[in-house]
Amino acid sequence: MTTTYNDDILFFDGINILDLALLNQTPFYLYSENIIANNFLKYQKSFGDNPHLICYSVKANSNLSILSLLVKLGSGFDIVSGGELSRVIQAGGDPSKTVFSGVGKTEEEIRFALSKNIMCFNIESRDELRTINAIALEKKSCANVSIRINPAIDVDTHPYITTGMQDNKFGIEQSEILDIYKEAHELKGINITGIDFHIGSQIMDIGPFKESILKVIAIAKELKKNNIKLSHIDIGGGLGIPYDNERSPDKSLFISEIVDLLKPLATKILIEPGRSIVGEAGLLISKVINIKKSTSKNFIIVDAGMNDLLRPPLYNAYHSIKEIVDNGANKIVCDVVGPVCETADFIGKDRNLSVLKGDYIAVESVGAYGFSLSSNYNTRMKSAEYLIAKDGQNIKKIRDRDTIKQILENETKYLL
Ligand SMILES: Cc1ncc(COP(=O)(O)O)c(C=O)c1O
Repeated sequence: MTTTYNDDILFFDGINILDLALLNQTPFYLYSENIIANNFLKYQKSFGDNPHLICYSVKANSNLSILSLLVKLGSGFDIVSGGELSRVIQAGGDPSKTVFSGVGKTEEEIRFALSKNIMCFNIESRDELRTINAIALEKKSCANVSIRINPAIDVDTHPYITTGMQDNKFGIEQSEILDIYKEAHELKGINITGIDFHIGSQIMDIGPFKESILKVIAIAKELKKNNIKLSHIDIGGGLGIPYDNERSPDKSLFISEIVDLLKPLATKILIEPGRSIVGEAGLLISKVINIKKSTSKNFIIVDAGMNDLLRPPLYNAYHSIKEIVDNGANKIVCDVVGPVCETADFIGKDRNLSVLKGDYIAVESVGAYGFSLSSNYNTRMKSAEYLIAKDGQNIKKIRDRDTIKQILENETKYLL
């Protein structure tokens, strides 16, 4: 875990969180530039001289400051919408280091990405391949593409975050893949550059990645026989992080095993990590509003709800919750819940905590799929975000909390 107690007060990356909580409106997200940079550089260094590109997966945390920090470190990007491409460009990112994934790219998004000369489209269906070809021809250009294979690999993670199993909507079945490549090879608006897969998220075992790579190597050999040359192989994201007491795979070992397997193909290697770069770099700070006891439960009601952190209700995900001041009092078993009017609105169940009304808590490892999954449900403001700069002292506000004016401004009061 990334926090420590110092004289009974919780610290994160050298920062006293109590001071920060007392000064700022809760709930808010707090990130560490150091942790993000260290995670990125660990991947970067592990590749050594082997040709590679780390395409940070924007969906994990798309705040402009975090993207621009990754731009400075040399990152490329994995995007899934035109909106994410706009974010990358606004953060100073290079479209020619950006890959575009996702099963439902609209024609408008394809046109936009083509006009920005992105590195490639990760193709998810034959239909999409044909649409991209038609748009490229109409624009008298040629689209770089990689074709996403669904390797039909079973991974041990929550079913909602598997993406490479046979019945998932993602990627193209192995039985069809050669045929699609052959069609793509004939299309005048298409330039084949790679092959890709992404088998899921929060994967704690390197085995499924290796299994998928072996399948890709076999396909690459078949393609070569058909005069189709690949310049890159993209193994997606998905490496897990410890949320409780688990051990996640070591990044260096992971990369060295992948490089060893792929070296004979002599292509550039792309990876699309999200969670393993930003996940452990974020906290959600929240205040206890009420404490409520029923016959069978103790509830700690805090000011952060499922609109701020959706992972527990959506995936039954576990996040460690800590008191910001360790008051040494007896802990009680409680559910930590938010103010949203849904029974699913919980942050943690059956936790041991000792807090009083007005105290603060920190929810750990929420840097990935935390703020980026947040919403205005119950007309609640999306929270502010802060970043602890790399000097470990300066704290920058990198997003203001929503205002009610912003939330209402796109709506029309239609009076009959
Ligand atoms: C295509 C693709 N690449 C990369 C990622 C990032 O995955 P993770 O955050 O688990 O590394 C995702 C997330 O689902 C994805 O869909």
